[in-house]
Amino acid sequence: MIMDILTLFPAMFDGPLSESILKRAQERELLTVRRHDIRAYAPDKHHTTDDTPYGGGGGMVMMAGPLVAAIEDVRGADTSAPVILLTPQGRVFTQRVAAELAAHDRLILVCGRYEGVDERVRQAVVTDEISIGDYVLTGGELAAMIIVDAVARLIPGVLGARWGAEEDSHAMGLLEYPHYTRPPVFRGMAVPDVLLSGDHGAIARWRRREAIRRTWQRRPDMLLAADLSEDERWFLAELAEGDARAHE
Ligand code: ADE
Repeated sequence: MIMDILTLFPAMFDGPLSESILKRAQERELLTVRRHDIRAYAPDKHHTTDDTPYGGGGGMVMMAGPLVAAIEDVRGADTSAPVILLTPQGRVFTQRVAAELAAHDRLILVCGRYEGVDERVRQAVVTDEISIGDYVLTGGELAAMIIVDAVARLIPGVLGARWGAEEDSHAMGLLEYPHYTRPPVFRGMAVPDVLLSGDHGAIARWRRREAIRRTWQRRPDMLLAADLSEDERWFLAELAEGDARAHE
């Protein structure tokens, strides 16, 4: 997978790309992240990329000229890769969107800065717009980094064979069950017996139920779309009934 990132601040990506799983994915050539400095496409000697908005008001707007030139040059003749503008106005990024993006061979991520980008950039070359949440960042760089991270870990091989992304929170429509490792007792708190039992069927059932319990407690909205068996629906009804009684 190739990710091309267009930004005014290429160095902002140095840290996250040079550590841990993303570093290893690049070394193993499962992932190529190329950073492109939009400023290099500004024709004037000061490399201007922003200007004051028509109609007045404060702030600066990223100019269409340098940004469209940068995108077209990076994209090249292959117009099949999505050109994604990071903006609080975009569709909200979720695990489902991450999976959708992971199916592409190449993504082009465009980081907006200042008050926004000239509307004609959208009209000319942008094919998708993504927001990472309902808050406003100083620019799209951190949002792009989050997309790189969430998509990269879905590329086959990036997480390693024994560590699939299939059981993640959100991937299966539920939050994850609680995890434990050694020691068996920490400050008087014991690991649930079933996890030490060696009974893989019982462990799988416990994990599924705890995932449902946790989702019920923290993100009940997710249960509307979760794929639950008949038994699991009964378990959920018991949880709901228990809560209702506790509130009487
Ligand atoms: N740029 C500024 N805020 C943003 C957000 N929430 N998501 C994506 N890009 C942004």
